[in-house]
Amino acid sequence: MISFPGYDDVIREIYYHNQDHVFEYWDELDDREKRSLLEDLSSVDISQLSVLFSTASDESQKKYSYTPAEYMPFPRTEEARARCREARSRGEQHVRDGKVAAFLVAGGQGTRLGFDGPKGAYPVGPVSGKSLFQIHGEKIRAYSKKYNTVIPWLIMTSVANHDETVEFFTTHKYFGLRKEHVYIFPQNMIPSLDFAGKLILKNRCSLFKNPDGHGGSLTALRTSGMITELERRGIETVSYFQVDNPLVKIIDPVFIGFHVMEESEISSKGMMKTGPKEKVGVFVHRSDGKTGILEYSDMTEEMQNARGPEGNLLYCMGNPAIHLFSLKFIDTITSGGALALPYHVAKKKIEALRSGGYAEIRGYKFEKFVFDAIPIARKTILLETLREEEFAPVKNKSGEDSVETARDLMNRLSFRWLAMQGIPVSEKTKVIEISPLRAIEPEDLSGDVPAREKIYLD
Ligand code: UD1
Repeated sequence: MISFPGYDDVIREIYYHNQDHVFEYWDELDDREKRSLLEDLSSVDISQLSVLFSTASDESQKKYSYTPAEYMPFPRTEEARARCREARSRGEQHVRDGKVAAFLVAGGQGTRLGFDGPKGAYPVGPVSGKSLFQIHGEKIRAYSKKYNTVIPWLIMTSVANHDETVEFFTTHKYFGLRKEHVYIFPQNMIPSLDFAGKLILKNRCSLFKNPDGHGGSLTALRTSGMITELERRGIETVSYFQVDNPLVKIIDPVFIGFHVMEESEISSKGMMKTGPKEKVGVFVHRSDGKTGILEYSDMTEEMQNARGPEGNLLYCMGNPAIHLFSLKFIDTITSGGALALPYHVAKKKIEALRSGGYAEIRGYKFEKFVFDAIPIARKTILLETLREEEFAPVKNKSGEDSVETARDLMNRLSFRWLAMQGIPVSEKTKVIEISPLRAIEPEDLSGDVPAREKIYLD
């Protein structure tokens, strides 16, 4: 057995769990490299590896049967609208009282967009070319101003994009927000395993790891010290959203109001799926009586196509990935060490260092999904929202769910808001972008708009 001052416990653990192949290049490493490998190994929960590996062969998702989840439909009656007004007023008070923080998960890279950098730096504004980060940041500024309050903004990055994200925020002067109200912290990493359950070397002194999925965001709130910081600030509700949706209503008083009134621990928005093949998770009622989300890749063809008695899609409530968490709930579920969310496994090609050099192997990559916390919660609600008002995912370079479709949806919403306010738009006008600093909801709009082909309302 090898030895190194200060690291003998971790070395013993590695041998005990038969992972000592990671020391294959030990004799070739200098002390700095040895320490770096041991530090990397110390950050891994070695005793968890066998659990991870057994997850890879366990079809745990299949142990439930499903029916569609119940939801609060979009208000279409006067009675429902009255309840929404009540919720709005409760929600507005909650925001005004400084009890809400915004939480963005931005660990992903822009790889699928063919963009080299954090996805949030990608330019999406149809006229302005503003980045996703800028659009989100300006919304938070606008809500803070509207409700005369401070809305702390938490941004979870990953090791791959943390420094670039901080630099982007610094270069853009935090989009006009005060730096002390913006917290940027990286998520944790988890090792991949080969098909024999062994750790994989990325190079002689580090392991192959990947971000632990957005399910890791709840643990990252604890490990980064954010839970304590939010408690200190008097925050009660955390509004969770994804970086890739420029239409998200980061602070929605109606949604927040229902969440508070119902004393919900996790509240989610749902939207009608466009069709059986849309790549969104769906809300389901599980056979254990819990509500949850089943990811699109885990749905059988039969489930995707299932129809109700009136011919409508049975599993129709898609997941736009917009949730509210009660801070107390996050505190409770993360206080006892590792948060028990299930791991989802993907088989991936991995460039690995093996005896004899680098080779492409196939291995398992593990991730946790944040929505797996829904079944753990004592009380949850699901609110139907209109997709045209708050969902414009930017996933691909072109075609479906691309920058083009997102820009088009942003443009359509601008026209819709102006029409709602009775503001006429010239026939010449093809593209309108409304800056969040000008209007955060249609009621903020007034006055005329110029008769030009492209308009930017700032
Ligand atoms: C996700 C949801 C899907 C939902 C859809 C809506 C999952 C598994 N599925 O799909 O149910 O209908 O969005 O757009 O999430 N992220 C991290 N760290 C990670 C992994 C992801 O911060 O380790 C962030 C990304 O930056 C992004 C978000 O999580 O903001 C979603 O990740 P992505 O992989 O794009 O999920 P989708 O497959 O698009």
